[in-house]
Amino acid sequence: MSAIVVYVSIHHKNTEKIAKAIAEVLNAKLVKPWKVKPEELLSYDLIGFGSGIYYWKHHRALFKLINSLPEVKGKKAFIFSTAGINVPFINHRKLRKALREKGFEIVGEFSCKGWDTNGWLEKIGGINKGHPDEGDIERAKRFAEKMRQLEGGPQNGRG
Ligand SMILES: Cc1cc2nc3c(=O)[nH]c(=O)nc-3n(C[C@H](O)[C@H](O)[C@H](O)COP(=O)(O)O)c2cc1C
Repeated sequence: MSAIVVYVSIHHKNTEKIAKAIAEVLNAKLVKPWKVKPEELLSYDLIGFGSGIYYWKHHRALFKLINSLPEVKGKKAFIFSTAGINVPFINHRKLRKALREKGFEIVGEFSCKGWDTNGWLEKIGGINKGHPDEGDIERAKRFAEKMRQLEGGPQNGRG
């Protein structure tokens, strides 16, 4: 079974740390949404979508990619994010909806705090400085391990 992780990380490369940790565990390819063609993306069994949260949602490039896909029937996907205010129930809502409308099955979600210096926060040095930290990365790896077990398959060490 194969996996790919699509991510955008523009503010402080916070989400990139998480994307790399997850991809390492899953032995997954890591790509930016503007660098992957729909046919390639859909050739994987499991797809992770993640970014920082920018104005209460994931980066628009992820939505653009998802909108460009044909209907997928039950393909497995997971969502991840880093955010100044880590409330995945709200922050993931739009991406969750876009994926479900395409026919994806969302098999897991991960989120953690990310250093945020957006706007006036810069004046106070931002919030969540140092995040994602080692603990966040450890949790991301454990999450990926769960995704790997869902995915199964001898190439990923099971079998
Ligand atoms: C333009 C902009 C808008 C943001 N909007 C939100 C927001 O609505 N909610 C939130 O929790 N964090 C918000 N943040 C903080 C980022 O989600 C957080 O810093 C995240 O870790 C950035 O990830 P990145 O370094 O991978 O881009 C915003 C940051 C920027 C730069």
